[in-house]
Amino acid sequence: MPSKPSKVLLRPDSQAAAETPASDLRQRPRRLRRTAVLRELVAETRLDPRQFIYPLFVVPGTNQCQEIEALPGQCRRSPDLLVAEVEQAWQEGIRAVLLFGIPEAKDPEGREAANPRGPAQEGVRALKRALPELVVMTDVCLCGYTTHGHCGIVGENGEVLNDPTLAVLAEAALSHAEAGADFVAPSDMMDGRVGAIRAALDQAGSTDTGIMAYSAKYASAFYGPFREAVDSAPQFGDRRSYQMASANRREALREARLDADEGADIIMVKPALAYLDVIAEVRAALDRPVAAYNVSGEYAMVKAAAACGWLDERAITLEVLTSIARAGADLILTYHCREAARWLKE
Ligand code: PBG
Repeated sequence: MPSKPSKVLLRPDSQAAAETPASDLRQRPRRLRRTAVLRELVAETRLDPRQFIYPLFVVPGTNQCQEIEALPGQCRRSPDLLVAEVEQAWQEGIRAVLLFGIPEAKDPEGREAANPRGPAQEGVRALKRALPELVVMTDVCLCGYTTHGHCGIVGENGEVLNDPTLAVLAEAALSHAEAGADFVAPSDMMDGRVGAIRAALDQAGSTDTGIMAYSAKYASAFYGPFREAVDSAPQFGDRRSYQMASANRREALREARLDADEGADIIMVKPALAYLDVIAEVRAALDRPVAAYNVSGEYAMVKAAAACGWLDERAITLEVLTSIARAGADLILTYHCREAARWLKE
């Protein structure tokens, strides 16, 4: 930061003032940008690690930490090493996580998703034991559990069947709640899944388990690295018959309202960076907390460019996260959260 410009420029002496009609400039927004302290004083958006949610991948077994090539710095961990990682994140101010289970075996109906001893469920138990105050959320979907990689049960003609999928999703959500999850987060985009999960949770007495709905989840190429991480790329076709088209904004409001009506406690928009307008609209239209998912491809782009020396990683990451918050996200899911928490403290 250069210090003040010369006094002459800031307050011309009376003679200079008489010669130059600088006083025509009645509005000087730069006054509020003069020093770093002043800029912070008037900041409209502030990032805080307490608004971050850390997405993590859980595999069965012990002592596992497998690096994910397309997500530099991220690993698939067994529950024991998951706890070690999250204990460090907790020290840095992270208060919430979102778990993705990666099962040993897949089947056409994704039944393993509801295995009470599955990696996601065991991960929840281990985290709750070690850090009872941590907010533990779980992704509820079938794509990581089905042999075909689709987010629901597939019919004879390759179509993804909506209603038969709801029961499997509800069962998976219940198994997460029974393991101690604070929130379940359905990411499948089947119609009516929030209502089906809410009803199943309530019937089982899990009335305090919340739902963070991936409400406006777009069919996006930004999920590429994630699909490598959990081996969930569809084996045929794509997800466009259930995830939203990137061209649509009004439809996001419809999805968000439906999920809110069905009982979603938190509404999510995903991806984040290419959908800031959607975040802003959902924020304005609904009274629920809004979460935005800074997805794997957004993270990978920053990491790749930083590794090439083309971007300043710290600056770009904080700019990206600030922009997501400015657009209206109350909560931000991001793989950057540990480093961002450290940078924010400096
Ligand atoms: C599962 C799911 C996906 C992501 C979160 N939950 C992938 C997909 O829909 O294909 C993506 C997360 C990321 O890219 O970081 N349905």
